[in-house]
Amino acid sequence: TKRPILVQGPMPIEAEKFAERLENVQIEESGSTFEFYIGTVDDYPVIVSKTGKGMENTAAATAIAIAKYNPVAIINQGTSGGHDPDLNVFDIVLGERTVNIGSMKTGDRAKGEGIVATDWKPMDVMASEGSAGEDPNAEKARYYEADPDLLAMAKKVKDHYTKGKVVEGTIGSADLWNNEVDRINWFHKNYGTSVEEMESASSAMISKAYDVPFLAIRILSNNKTNNGAYNADTAAANQEYVYEVVREYISFL
Ligand code: 5AD
Repeated sequence: TKRPILVQGPMPIEAEKFAERLENVQIEESGSTFEFYIGTVDDYPVIVSKTGKGMENTAAATAIAIAKYNPVAIINQGTSGGHDPDLNVFDIVLGERTVNIGSMKTGDRAKGEGIVATDWKPMDVMASEGSAGEDPNAEKARYYEADPDLLAMAKKVKDHYTKGKVVEGTIGSADLWNNEVDRINWFHKNYGTSVEEMESASSAMISKAYDVPFLAIRILSNNKTNNGAYNADTAAANQEYVYEVVREYISFL
């Protein structure tokens, strides 16, 4: 039997549109949060996973999906907020790399010396098995690279998407919603982020632990750096594009 392609989306509006397009669907639940829509696209097995929002839900949903369904590849997709002023609402970022932008070590400051967020350094919890607080090698961000085949198939169908542009970039994830434009610019400069959201780096980390090819595909639903107002319709638009990517990947497999 063929190993399924897993397509993840955090919120109902980010998963149900794709799930509606599956054929021969059966729904399986896990716990109170996770739903798996098990079906086919072009007679190939595809599972849509509604993960819930955030890094913890996504890590757990990814591990459960790998253990239960043994996916051949994982695509994490959904909405995001722009860090790059050249990107507009409805543009799509193919995550050439994903990075956790919430894992940090603060500066060393005694009582009364304040809180200075611009001094905070990235912290890589995977640098070693020792204390990340003491290990100088852990003072760097860890980037997860996209699977080259998934990325190539996504690039191949760029032209199918007409509501904005499709670019390659860096996706930053954390359980965090940044509304400070100076802080957004700080991430853009120091991490090279194109967009932020709350899931992709978590799924990338677990996918890598099990050697499952991974790609994140994120549409901008908002962009504080150029006054791009939030638009919920972007969630459906992204799923339409990801559907084309999945079809292309199936024909490649
Ligand atoms: N910052 C963080 N998360 C965002 N999301 C969309 N825009 C942003 C943003 N600017 C996504 C997250 C999460 C939900 C709140 O929407 O991935 O699932």
